[in-house]
Amino acid sequence: MRQFDIDRIRDDFPILDRELYGRPLVYLDNAATAQKPRQVIEAMETMMLNSNGNIHRGAHRLSDEATALYESARETVREFIGAESPDEIIFTSGATASLNLAARSLCELLVAEGDNVIVSEMEHHSNIVPWQLACRGEIRTLPFDDSGELQLDTLESLIDERTKILAITQCSNVLGTRTDIARAAAIAHRHGVTVVVDGCQGVVHGGGSDSKTSDSKTWVNVSELDCDLYAFSGHKLYGPTGIGVLYGRRELLERMPPLFGGGDMVDRVSFAGSTWAALPFKFEAGTSNFVGAVGLAEAIKYLTQFDPRDIERHEQALLRLATEGLEKIEGLRIYGTAPDKAPIVSFTVEGTHASDIGVLLDKQGIATRTGTHCAQPLADHYGVSSICRASFALYNTPYEVTKLIESLQKALKMLTR
Ligand code: ALA
Repeated sequence: MRQFDIDRIRDDFPILDRELYGRPLVYLDNAATAQKPRQVIEAMETMMLNSNGNIHRGAHRLSDEATALYESARETVREFIGAESPDEIIFTSGATASLNLAARSLCELLVAEGDNVIVSEMEHHSNIVPWQLACRGEIRTLPFDDSGELQLDTLESLIDERTKILAITQCSNVLGTRTDIARAAAIAHRHGVTVVVDGCQGVVHGGGSDSKTSDSKTWVNVSELDCDLYAFSGHKLYGPTGIGVLYGRRELLERMPPLFGGGDMVDRVSFAGSTWAALPFKFEAGTSNFVGAVGLAEAIKYLTQFDPRDIERHEQALLRLATEGLEKIEGLRIYGTAPDKAPIVSFTVEGTHASDIGVLLDKQGIATRTGTHCAQPLADHYGVSSICRASFALYNTPYEVTKLIESLQKALKMLTR
């Protein structure tokens, strides 16, 4: 295990040395995309410089090398999320692609007219809209309370004999709330409902108190969560953009129809009809982002050098400091006050617009995000149209949190004078 030494960690992330408007960059938009350690950048560069060949196809050494690296990346992901087999790991272009694949394919397999799918109220658009596009039946909503906790007590009452799928986030990208997925899955599975989890933030910040305090050294374990499908992106996990994962239980993936047709996903093609390749290739049509997969594997290797509990402690200390500082500001409201939340803090300040705050923070070198964070139903719940969000990563420091609070106070003076 590598010791959690924040100075050495920051040295791994070259971008953290840059300035914004002559001030040191304070990057607090990690829930949107995390920065990349040089290990990830170098692994991708090395692959493109030395081993660029199309995977699974070429009659040459470069193709063999690229294929071996790609398949080894799949194994790294398998181990990281505790899947049983690499055949259960499908590489996609990102979580949005994973969830669209899940929705299209599962709805074709499971959902008929008159059936229903349950989607939580706090989902990102990428776990709402694909179901609206694909589902021929009704979409029901699992609500959350004002503290930002999903009302799992009401889940059973939403389920009837026509309920086929539960689509649920492991961690809200706005509120930071971590969902008890194992509990939700147990309720859903009692009724034969298939569980699809958006793990975009959860894969980074762990699955809540159980995994956080457990002795297991993993962040997420899909077998313990007992979900059927699990989606995440590489770029929020310190890896590159354009690569993501859809994990699926083998038995379910075997039955699901492919979404995209093309090379690599077929066994035999003829005009009389075609047959599909075995898992996982059935779902990986065309040339996959093999360089991205190698980058993602390197990001996972980077992260798993550390004890996840050290990262959790560090990020929770940042969250506490930020929350304490923000709570002292008059008129400021924090969205997401559930216990055991991930290091994401969203807020508005009475009499100001979130986007004005975002611009004034940016001018002071602080990168945050404002808006509805691709979660408009969540914003509607609170009756707001724009929210500021600061989200922390393993490389952020208490000093940066102090800068956030000071810079926010300056911004508010300008906005309210
Ligand atoms: N889903 C990303 C976010 O929360 C883009 O910012």
